[in-house]
Amino acid sequence: MNLASNTPKFYELPPPPFKIFPAMQGDIPKIARIEAEAYPFPWSPGNFTDSMAAGYQVWVLRSGGTVAGYAVWMHVLDEAHLLNICVAPPYQNRGWGARLLRFIMALAWAGGARALFLEVRPSNGPARALYRRFRFRQIGVRKDYYPAAEGREAALVLYRELEETDGPDEAGGLGEEEE
Ligand SMILES: CC(C)(COP(=O)(O)OP(=O)(O)OC[C@H]1O[C@@H](n2cnc3c(N)ncnc32)[C@H](O)[C@@H]1OP(=O)(O)O)[C@@H](O)C(=O)NCCC(=O)NCCS
Repeated sequence: MNLASNTPKFYELPPPPFKIFPAMQGDIPKIARIEAEAYPFPWSPGNFTDSMAAGYQVWVLRSGGTVAGYAVWMHVLDEAHLLNICVAPPYQNRGWGARLLRFIMALAWAGGARALFLEVRPSNGPARALYRRFRFRQIGVRKDYYPAAEGREAALVLYRELEETDGPDEAGGLGEEEE
């Protein structure tokens, strides 16, 4: 048997069955590692610690010891503001970002939010594709908002009204029954 010609170049494994959990302090090193891989201008580990200390919503996509993504958002009165959503590069473009965003919208709705705001770089094609799919609308531009390789880059401010159909009843629950 000619092993060399029979040896596959790779064998694609299915992604682990990630579920979404509240982040714990001990997740921060893993979150920070993903952040540094996924963004040219990453948040520091301290930004995540501060977000948790401030009582923001910080959630991770987890399977066993593997963290594949996370989201940070804050909830003020009837508005939610998405501060960070990120999927680790090896798991991107497989639907996890969409699952995270659907969960954020369901939990925000359940907590009384009726709109979700976020900022995105005009140059961030994958993120803009994600938000387009979820029918976010651009409502403004913040000039010189982000650091960039040369100078600064603007932020597009996106907005999405939340509806009953975004809530946990229609989105298939929030998963409490599985724990
Ligand atoms: C933005 C991000 C969270 C999307 O998560 P994801 O798991 O890759 O996205 P999904 O697989 O759920 O796909 C969502 C949409 O994005 C598109 N998309 C994902 N990766 C893409 C890529 N590399 N290029 C182009 N489009 C891409 C998908 O095609 C899909 O759009 P569609 O439904 O119209 O086909 C992820 O790319 C990421 O973590 N990026 C780095 C961090 C970041 O920029 N966060 C957003 C800050 S505002």
